[in-house]
Amino acid sequence: MSADDAADEAADDTSIVTGDETYTASVVGGTGFTGGELLRILSGHPDFEVVQATSRSADNMTVGRSHPNLRGLDLRFSDPDDLESVDVLFSATPHGVSMGQVDEYFEAADAVVDLSADFRLPAAELYDEWYDGHTSPEYLERAEYALPEINRENLPGADLIAGGGCNATATMLGLKPLVDAGALGPDSGEVVVDVKVGSSEGGAGGGAASSHPERSGVVRPYAPTGHRHEAEIEAYLGLDVSFTVHAVEMVRGASATCHVFPDEPVSKADLWQAYRGAYADEPFMRIVSGGGGVYRYPEPKAVAGTNYGEVGFELDPGNRRIVVFSAIDNMMKGSAGQAVHAANVALGLPETAGLEFQGLHPVGSP
Ligand SMILES: NC(=O)c1ccc[n+]([C@@H]2O[C@H](COP(=O)([O-])OP(=O)(O)OC[C@H]3O[C@@H](n4cnc5c(N)ncnc54)[C@H](OP(=O)(O)O)[C@@H]3O)[C@@H](O)[C@H]2O)c1
Repeated sequence: MSADDAADEAADDTSIVTGDETYTASVVGGTGFTGGELLRILSGHPDFEVVQATSRSADNMTVGRSHPNLRGLDLRFSDPDDLESVDVLFSATPHGVSMGQVDEYFEAADAVVDLSADFRLPAAELYDEWYDGHTSPEYLERAEYALPEINRENLPGADLIAGGGCNATATMLGLKPLVDAGALGPDSGEVVVDVKVGSSEGGAGGGAASSHPERSGVVRPYAPTGHRHEAEIEAYLGLDVSFTVHAVEMVRGASATCHVFPDEPVSKADLWQAYRGAYADEPFMRIVSGGGGVYRYPEPKAVAGTNYGEVGFELDPGNRRIVVFSAIDNMMKGSAGQAVHAANVALGLPETAGLEFQGLHPVGSP
């Protein structure tokens, strides 16, 4: 390779400008639930200025019309066919939209952060297996998985960031310390994961299954086997899990309970060492494991509206089974918060910028 070619390649690699500046941002899919969370975070972020939020159905209406918590924000929805030129485009659209629009996104923006499943998996064959194929597979290699706790080292300078699935995020945050500690070797038993998730996971247009009368009071298995997030967990944690998801009544939150049968018996001290080793320096991770008070284990209510994740664990008598608990807000740590956290890392900003707020207590069903 000539020096010129190498320089061109290096320039391509750093097409996303990093430094001490304010970044312009747009949110495609601004009327949706995660789009609203992006607007909430970015409008308070010290390093971003939101210049566009798109909607086909609410064109020219104020953002506050869809998101009453954002009333007063001086921004109106505009047509996604007229994308403004920005530094970072966040896309919060249903699966399949971004893979069809990604060329247009990159014409408008230096970097794209996509919250859908469109760039999450690393290979086209996985989309054939788990989704309905992929129409822009040439972008898959370029995409970096957003979750910093899993993929921080590859995020700086990334210009296509793929947000994780909320159920996969809760599960991986819970299990990662055990994987890192080598507790899950070839002789381990099957890892069984049970996730309970709130109705906002289905989005603003969630349909009959998420409507209030149908959702009220349920603990409804909706993906007993074959959930698509299994593919992500295998791709990024290297772990094949038996995975079941329940739809429950809460609005926000994903709570994963993972049953782990390790190679060799482990002690409580081993577990503390593994979880502290993985998360002591993580700005958004809390270990909540059998302390006092009412909330002795991870609790979605305690992180609702925030980018925090909680993990905790218990051991069976005889140390045969580790029970791991993990709780996040599906729209924050499980989506919009994760996306902004990843963008902060990609741009070289302080990791916690725009995300440092705590949740509410006491609070009703979040
Ligand atoms: N909700 C969660 O907890 C969660 C968690 C992790 C990941 N995600 C992923 O994040 C994405 C957004 O989820 P959500 O829950 O925010 O969905 P949502 O509430 O249904 O919002 C979707 C948004 O996309 C817009 N949209 C739909 N089709 C479009 C198209 N063809 N072109 C441009 N805009 C379009 C919609 O507005 P208009 O129709 O007005 O244009 C709306 O603003 C999904 O891919 C979802 O899987 C969601």
